[in-house]
Amino acid sequence: MRRIVILISGRGSNMEAIIRAAQDEKWPARIVAVVSNRADASGLHYAAEQGIPAIVVPHKDYATREAFDAALQSRIDEFSPDLLVLAGFMRVLTSRFVAHYAGRMLNIHPSLLPSFVGLATHNQALAAGVTIHGATVHFVTADLDHGPIVAQATVPVLPDDTETTLAARVLEQEHIIYPRVIRAFVEGRVSLIDGIARMTPDNIES
Ligand code: GRF
Repeated sequence: MRRIVILISGRGSNMEAIIRAAQDEKWPARIVAVVSNRADASGLHYAAEQGIPAIVVPHKDYATREAFDAALQSRIDEFSPDLLVLAGFMRVLTSRFVAHYAGRMLNIHPSLLPSFVGLATHNQALAAGVTIHGATVHFVTADLDHGPIVAQATVPVLPDDTETTLAARVLEQEHIIYPRVIRAFVEGRVSLIDGIARMTPDNIES
């Protein structure tokens, strides 16, 4: 069984989709912990209800980013993860932390990277007037929102879209592609060679 630790900062709907898929599809993997930098992250309740250790490492307790990342890393490593999954984890990570989990840390970003890095991606998409938007699952590297892309999902941008309607359409896709990529990773179907990620489909995906 592969061991997965999920990091969240808030609602945790992606985390929930991943936990459900792992159970329903009987992945060769287990979510061994959910860790949040915020005690009020509502996603912690769902994790705890599922019997998954739901841990808080408050970033405010640490004077520097380096000190927080070191504390976070040691808490995570108590669970010996094969894969670290960022699911709405709203902290910029130090290069030291990123290097420690190189090749085994994934993130989901609510845009079609490399377009619209950073925050307020749906507003960025509306302001740019694009007609196609979406989400990207990528390996995390020290270069924020620029790691090797594993999978993307697209949605149309409709003429009367607001940030809310567009975000909801993208989120629905996030809940499909993120579990799909993580499953592929734990089944050994994701490769990362020379900075290029590839995912091979299994028999049930087309
Ligand atoms: C998602 O849109 C994700 O792409 C972004 O933050 C949001 C987190 O939502 N990184 P949730 O906490 O998974 O519901």
